[in-house]
Amino acid sequence: MPERYHVASEEEFAAEERSRIITEIRGKEIAVFEIDDEYHGVLNYCPHQAGPLCEGRVVGDTQIGDDGWTWVSARDDEIISCPWHSWKFDIQGGDCIDDDRYSVPTYDVEVDDGEIYVVA
Ligand code: FES
Repeated sequence: MPERYHVASEEEFAAEERSRIITEIRGKEIAVFEIDDEYHGVLNYCPHQAGPLCEGRVVGDTQIGDDGWTWVSARDDEIISCPWHSWKFDIQGGDCIDDDRYSVPTYDVEVDDGEIYVVA
């Protein structure tokens, strides 16, 4: 049965202007990211070659624009790029952007009285 694990206070998360906090829970490194005032947990493990996925850059994506010709940026700050070989994963759902055969586990994150908890 999943349990809640304390990560930090929202104040601590915001005060250091970090885009993520990486913590160890039950022997696994899990990162908490904030996107539009909601928190998301992602396993710090890349399924490509076991790189520290969540230590990479938080990026966006590009898509073909309405004119069908130009590229436009989309989903700013919703994607984590692995620092080893730049595979990209959706922070909210864990799906690999580059290859849909791969994904990374994600975790629910709850906020209770200003304190952030990962459910794992
Ligand atoms: S280990 Fe992450 S892209 Fe290769």
